[in-house]
Amino acid sequence: MKIKNICCIGAGYVGGPTMAVIALNCPKINVTVVDSNPNKIRAWNGDLEKLPVFEPGLKEIIKNVRNKNLFFSSDIDKSIDLSEMIFMAVNTPTKESGVGAGMAADLKYIEACARNIAKVAKSDKIVVEKSTLPVRTAEKIKEILDSEGNDVNFEILSNPEFLAEGTAIQDLFKSDRVLIGSDSTKTAKSAAKSLIEIYSSWIPKKKILTTNVWSSELSKLASNAMLAQRISSINSFSAMCEKTGADIKELSKAIGLDRRIGPKFLEPSVGFGGSCFQKDILNLVYLCKHYGLYEVAEYWHQVVKINDYQKNRFTQKIIDNLDGKIKQKKIVILGWAFKSNSNDSRESASIHVTAKLLSLGANVHVFDPLIKKTQVILDLKKLWKKNTLEKKDINRMLNNFKYTEYPQETILDGTAAVALITDWNEFKKYDWNKIVNQSNNKILIFDGRNILPLKHKRIFKI
Ligand code: UDX
Ligand code: ADP
Repeated sequence: MKIKNICCIGAGYVGGPTMAVIALNCPKINVTVVDSNPNKIRAWNGDLEKLPVFEPGLKEIIKNVRNKNLFFSSDIDKSIDLSEMIFMAVNTPTKESGVGAGMAADLKYIEACARNIAKVAKSDKIVVEKSTLPVRTAEKIKEILDSEGNDVNFEILSNPEFLAEGTAIQDLFKSDRVLIGSDSTKTAKSAAKSLIEIYSSWIPKKKILTTNVWSSELSKLASNAMLAQRISSINSFSAMCEKTGADIKELSKAIGLDRRIGPKFLEPSVGFGGSCFQKDILNLVYLCKHYGLYEVAEYWHQVVKINDYQKNRFTQKIIDNLDGKIKQKKIVILGWAFKSNSNDSRESASIHVTAKLLSLGANVHVFDPLIKKTQVILDLKKLWKKNTLEKKDINRMLNNFKYTEYPQETILDGTAAVALITDWNEFKKYDWNKIVNQSNNKILIFDGRNILPLKHKRIFKI
């Protein structure tokens, strides 16, 4: 099938950047990104400085292709109807209630999406799973499409996204691989060919890998699990370093020089965040249990447990070094995004560290270069609600919370401790000499990323 029109359902961190890059590389294809959230669509159509997703290089592409062959629209049905190929790039968070709560992926958005496609489609469609999904979700989508559809043919492809936030554009342009999973029927192979044709506009053919649907779905979960496992492994050694006097940076370097291991994803941190790692591993653990693979489930669960341990260990280090007395003490949190160069705070370690410090009565001031006060409060409230905290406790803690636009001035004004949590480059450039040497205060600095350029007895590494 020759593709002239693409619809992408979901204008988020995956849908937005991915479709921008497809539109740029395939000028003959009209790409429409739709979303059920009209504010998001308005923002994508608005000021380039205020796009809903921050990614280096993204606004330049949007400027180039928006309203030429890339469109953002709230008219989901019209776009489904007009398109030969539909990408599903909706969110699949961890389930909050019902069977599998806290572990399994919540497929309600995916299912709503499939229902919508089934209801609207009047001609054959290729439906592409972009969102990360549990293995065998394609079967479920196909079931919905075939049982609720208007007797048209649907081919389901799995095409998981491997972009990392903060480097999405670069990752999309120079993907290590593009994975396309399909059935082995003639029509499915032909659908896969249509998608291969799109990617081959800029990705070398040898990097486009075709597999069966289940391998493709599981590869995404497995890749994320392996990456997260490296971080939990290095973080477990950061705890060992603290006890033994070994230096984690030296350790990372020494390990990474072994070509069989390699240097990437060995940076210790307060713990990984983001919308993928924890969610995907918990989902993997749930699937393993479903298939009776309890030992395998426990193996992967440990990666998430070490991540929680690392967040708690970092927070406890702050508390212990303030002699356990943090009530009314001023603590500044640097960074709210789960990583630098992103405006995404989902599962950021900052949320957990801040919530714990507030619960013990500290006065916490937060700063992030891209994430503003309203989002910080939303994130905290979400965590507190999940932990079923009472309104009066939430209000008490919010009374001790402040957002600052002037982090250096705030730090210099009677701060007991600074916790650097996101690896934003600009944090390295602060006048740390001045900060640690101010005479009236024995400020403590907790560098949760090991990025500060100076050594001092009151600067603690992770
Ligand atoms: C991840 C995968 O990398 C990507 O392939 C997949 O498509 C989606 O999930 P993302 O979550 O966007 O991407 O960012 P990533 O760069 O993987 O970072 C995840 C977290 O791990 C961040 O909090 C980051 O700061 C942390 N991290 C990363 C470390 O703590 N140490 C490292 O060495 C690398
Ligand atoms: P991701 O990081 O996976 O891209 P986001 O939350 O950033 O996740 O984006 C997913 C988007 O999908 C959201 O903007 C949400 O409004 C949208 N969405 C979810 N369900 C539907 C649906 N059924 N129809 C249209 N849009 C949807």
